[in-house]
Amino acid sequence: MIMAPTPQGIAEACRLLKEGQVVGMPTETVYGLAADATQDHAVARIFEVKNRPTFNPLIIHVASAQEATAVVEISLEAQALMEIFWPGPLTLVLNRKSDCPVSWLAGGGLDTLAVRCPAHPVAGRLIRAYGRPLAAPSANRSMKISPTSAEDVLESLGDQVPLIMDGGRCEVGLESTILDLSGEAPVLLRPGSILSEALEAIIGTVYPFKKVSSGASSVKAPGMMHRHYAPHRPLRLNAMERHPGEALLGFGAAGSLPVILNLSETGNLTEAAANLFQMMRQLDKDFYTGIAVMPIPFTGLGVAINDRLQRAAALEEEG
Ligand code: TXA
Ligand code: MG
Repeated sequence: MIMAPTPQGIAEACRLLKEGQVVGMPTETVYGLAADATQDHAVARIFEVKNRPTFNPLIIHVASAQEATAVVEISLEAQALMEIFWPGPLTLVLNRKSDCPVSWLAGGGLDTLAVRCPAHPVAGRLIRAYGRPLAAPSANRSMKISPTSAEDVLESLGDQVPLIMDGGRCEVGLESTILDLSGEAPVLLRPGSILSEALEAIIGTVYPFKKVSSGASSVKAPGMMHRHYAPHRPLRLNAMERHPGEALLGFGAAGSLPVILNLSETGNLTEAAANLFQMMRQLDKDFYTGIAVMPIPFTGLGVAINDRLQRAAALEEEG
């Protein structure tokens, strides 16, 4: 359903977000599919609705630079750029704060987070009214073009999204510029309407993004701008037993198997997705020699879960 951004509309959106549901949110770039960034289950719903075959990290939308300080470490460069370009179509990748409340699934399990403060007044009103950051990728099904009106969202995802806030047509129509400030030098990960030159005028040299390649085995996918999370310990998939020293991560009924944690005892894939990164991080400890994961079916969100596990296992083999 499309609703006007009246006080009642905003209140209804907040009610749904609190329940862990997804809501269509207008921004100045494209419409986003928003969920409470601090609820793992709500974030899992985003991936389910978008039908994404992998768990890319999502952009965390905040109402102000002040609100960003609760989730990421703000460097001097970041502060300077926020003062000039926020609110607006500039996303900054920064290091997560140690007490960051954002779901590990939203951040793809990484130690960095992409944050942005949208300039669209309805987005601003919604995030402020909700009082927590919202994770939001573009509100289209995977591989489809990004929506720039509430009707586009309705057409693409309407049957899955209980509420779309109407904010008219998006002014920019192109996804935000993404700048990575988490490394030694600033790197432009995605070009957008805020140009590299404009950023350089404030912080000096900005490097173009080059896919990192370390020989034939490097993972290269089109549009892949982020590193993937992988535990430090070896990961063994489709495990039906525990080898000595391993931590066994369960899925579904584990019977007498000595599982330490279970992604979902009832075999619920949404719950498993919500728990995935957080549980892998919990088991990635010195006193285990490796992490063994029970089989996960390749249906629904199971495709994305297996994709992440396989990538993590492959990265480990590559060293
Ligand atoms: O304009 C926009 O940015 C729109 C509106 C809705 O705000 N959002 C958007 O989100 O385009 P999405 O999920 O479609 O694209 C987010 C991109 C992904 O390609 C992801 O790789 C990158 O941001 N990203 C997110 N977190 C990252 C991180 N920690 N490091 C590197 N890249 C990251
Ligand atoms: Mg997108």
